[in-house]
Amino acid sequence: MSKGTSEGWGSRVGLILAMAGNAVGLGNFLRFPVQAIQNGGGAFIIPYLVCFLLMGIPLLWVEWAMGRFGGRHGHHSTPFILHQMDPRRTLWKYIGVFGIFTNIAVAAYYCYLESWTLSYVWHSVAGTFNGQSSEDVAGFFGRYVSLETMEPVIFWIICLLMNTWILAQGLSGGVEKVAKIGMPLLILFGIVLAYMGVTLKAGEHGAVNDGTLGLNFLWTPDYSSIWKPSVWLAAAGQIFFTLSVGMGSIHCYASYVKKKDDIALNAMSAGWMNEFVEVVLGSAIIIPISIGYLGIERVVELTKSGGLGLGFKTLPYLFTQWGPTMAMIAGVCWFGLLFFAGITSSLAMGTPVMGFLEDEFGWKRKPSAWFFGLIILVLGLPTVLYFNEGVFDEYDYWAGTVSLVVFALFEIILFAWIFGMDKGWKEINSGADIKVPTAFRYVIQYVTPLFLGFVFFASLPGIWEKITAANLPWQVHGARVLLIALFAGTSYFVWVAYKKRHAKSYTA
Ligand code: ALA
Repeated sequence: MSKGTSEGWGSRVGLILAMAGNAVGLGNFLRFPVQAIQNGGGAFIIPYLVCFLLMGIPLLWVEWAMGRFGGRHGHHSTPFILHQMDPRRTLWKYIGVFGIFTNIAVAAYYCYLESWTLSYVWHSVAGTFNGQSSEDVAGFFGRYVSLETMEPVIFWIICLLMNTWILAQGLSGGVEKVAKIGMPLLILFGIVLAYMGVTLKAGEHGAVNDGTLGLNFLWTPDYSSIWKPSVWLAAAGQIFFTLSVGMGSIHCYASYVKKKDDIALNAMSAGWMNEFVEVVLGSAIIIPISIGYLGIERVVELTKSGGLGLGFKTLPYLFTQWGPTMAMIAGVCWFGLLFFAGITSSLAMGTPVMGFLEDEFGWKRKPSAWFFGLIILVLGLPTVLYFNEGVFDEYDYWAGTVSLVVFALFEIILFAWIFGMDKGWKEINSGADIKVPTAFRYVIQYVTPLFLGFVFFASLPGIWEKITAANLPWQVHGARVLLIALFAGTSYFVWVAYKKRHAKSYTA
């Protein structure tokens, strides 16, 4: 049994905001609109909402319950939380490795993206984009990621230092404080921008369509998509990424919840806050503004080469159409909200690693935080140096997409079928401040595992295509080697920790 930790949440509001901050991320504002546009607008929204109900909500309850259960036994990271749920089998702690691996690998590219937002806040204040053509603004981004100057590296290091320093202040002293400041500001900035987007008028400031054209595109349901597996896969992937389920960070945050405290209502509060930010604010900024200026066809075309372009190449240019003052306000709101969305998520990615080091190797909080910062520096460097060669996308694919589904599939089987639904349901309901609808007991037991199984098997052809793709640059192969080494190295430390501290107590 591990020694445990004195860490804990300072208040319920702080916990919910930190959990919501974990979920609300760059995915809400950059990934969601692009997925929606690429998958036909209104065709996307029904599969998305069904995935939220049948997969997202159940997984939120399951992960919160697993986390609080693990925390009660002194575990704050998934290898030993999973092990505690079925101590007889050796497999689970290695499945739990995903919950550390994914956080490190996602943080490694995510922090770089987060650092762009800081830099773009600065450029919005400095008025860098005023008077530039759309090609100039897009070219600025191209030169930025090609490292024509040292600026991206400097902002990246600043961002890593900020994350590490905040993590070193602890949960209530660091993470919770940032969430309490960052989340309200994010929502405020989001409301300002959504208002600007939705009230955009054709013929004013160079717009060719009303902002409502983009909203109608998204919110007019198209039932034909029900039969398209690719739309379902995209919707399921978005639900995973946006809620941060299948990652291991929710387990870690929930492991610091007290034994008798509610998780049922807390999980819903954080989950629904994320959905509000994603489907209300996330859909009311990029989509109305870009479609307002460029039209649906052009915007669909622009998103084909990936999602980051709209946020970093197109929007800063469109803001300048509103005049220098409004461009500055909009730029600060947009990149500021992206920054707060990003940092409250990347902080959550640091805590499972720290929890593991503290529980299993007796490390103190500060060295654990700096160690996390160091790994992100080393693993993140290739994403900075070889962004254009595809290292960033490679990390995103394996860690930010595939791993989430694999881990979620295993954890739901463990929770519902091995730990057992009787115990599991009791865990979810213990201390609950709401009555969890009984239907969800059956959803968790049957529907979610089947749904996840479908998502997993439907993803296999894509995964195979990715593995066998020819003519990849050496940097992408290098990224794969690094990811495999990260998984193997983490498994090794789990094995060492098990030998060192757990073997006796579990076999006794
Ligand atoms: N849930 C986080 C996001 O949406 C990772 O960006």
